Amino acid sequence: MTLHVIILAAGQGTRMKSSLPKVLHKLAGKPLLAYAIETARQLSPSCIHIVYGHGGDIVKSMLDADDLDWVYQENQHGTGHAVQLALENITNNKDRVCVLYGDVPLLSSTTVTRLMHVSGRLGVLTAKVSNPAGYGRIIRDANGHIVSIIEERDADDQQKSIDEINTGVMTGDAGYIRQLLAQVGRNNDQGEIYLTDIVQVATSDGTAVEHHCTQDENEISGINNKLQLASMERLIQERKARELMEAGVTLRDPTRFDIRGSLTCGIDVEIDINCIFEGQVELGNGVKVGPNVYMKDCTIGKGTEIRANTIIEGGEIGEKAVIGPYARIRPETKLSDSVHIGNFVEIKKSTIGEASKVNHLSYIGDSNVGRRVNVGAGTITCNYDGAYKHETVIEDDVFIGSGTELVAPIKVEQGSTTGAGSTLSKDVEKESLVVERSKVRVVKAWRRPSKS
Ligand code: UD1
Ligand code: CA
Repeated sequence: MTLHVIILAAGQGTRMKSSLPKVLHKLAGKPLLAYAIETARQLSPSCIHIVYGHGGDIVKSMLDADDLDWVYQENQHGTGHAVQLALENITNNKDRVCVLYGDVPLLSSTTVTRLMHVSGRLGVLTAKVSNPAGYGRIIRDANGHIVSIIEERDADDQQKSIDEINTGVMTGDAGYIRQLLAQVGRNNDQGEIYLTDIVQVATSDGTAVEHHCTQDENEISGINNKLQLASMERLIQERKARELMEAGVTLRDPTRFDIRGSLTCGIDVEIDINCIFEGQVELGNGVKVGPNVYMKDCTIGKGTEIRANTIIEGGEIGEKAVIGPYARIRPETKLSDSVHIGNFVEIKKSTIGEASKVNHLSYIGDSNVGRRVNVGAGTITCNYDGAYKHETVIEDDVFIGSGTELVAPIKVEQGSTTGAGSTLSKDVEKESLVVERSKVRVVKAWRRPSKS
């Protein structure tokens, strides 16, 4: 059996009231459409056709991949019209088709597979929900057979009270769906070609429309506005928090915790409130994360402590290190074991060797710092000359006095010391002391200017 998945993602998403295409709004750090694509991939189809339109090029450029066929729908004439366009790229009428919606992110491939098992020429995934408002309702005849789907805006009060809804997921034979769509009119409130109308066309000539009914409301929830986006975000975060706590992670408050990517934790990890984890973050055994920490794409070694209000934007941190409070670690940084980085210290694209300390108010950029180095308060690596970035090398056991400015490119050799307040632009020989300090001038009995 050859399977084609069609994902509908061309709608404007007017209810989002945004210039960004609806399917690009992010849920737990990922665009809505990425969720539908993932579900589609789990079905192992021969091709995934994505119908896109509104804000087209950004959608395509953000999510493009080899297994995706992008179908452009210039004017959004409805879900049925969107499927018609995708069917133009499916030539074999015997191939199976599965339609998913780009704005229904939590749908599982297991549920879709269940539908595919029962569906004959045409199958619909339905759901019983506590609040059916906004969805198309499933209309059944006296024998309980599905006869049609009626959209909320076209439904009367009796139909609106039906609690079985259309999830939007449909499966069937390509040729058959094509044939049904050709007979669908635009006789509805929006004047669109509704995919849902193929159900009535099929049943009116006697074809049985099969269905699978799911009870999981979250799974089939569509995102049409910012309120739904926010409540789905909370739901996902709660699930992730629960999984971590079940795996032994201590979360001080699971409702004040956000993952926008993946977080892997060793044992005895503790995470305080208001932390955000983005991209791929790995925390080793016994790592402690203080409150208000932001971490992106980084690995933290065993027993390391990340203190309050620290920002890590990428990098690798060794074991038993102490970072923060208020530190900023920028991409391409590698901090070895037992390194201490203190408050108001920014480290960019640098390597810092074992047991070295940069504890107060410093900027270390494009640097290679050795082991057991002490960098005094207020030290700056002057790495940028206005055009190029230059490297600073500080070898093992160096002591950098407070307020030193290191004008790169520069090398401070092993075991040397720089005096506080020095601005250095020449390499420092090993085991030497270098001080650059202007003479002190004293004017006795000096009076400051005063207003007359
Ligand atoms: C649709 C269904 C409704 C169902 C609900 C489930 C129809 C007519 N209605 O309603 O029965 O209960 O989904 O969430 O199918 N799209 C296009 N091109 C278009 C129009 C829409 O690609 O011309 C895409 C949208 O981007 C969206 C999906 O199709 O991803 C659904 O469209 P939307 O307008 O959100 O339909 P609903 O009103 O939610
Ligand atoms: Ca929708």
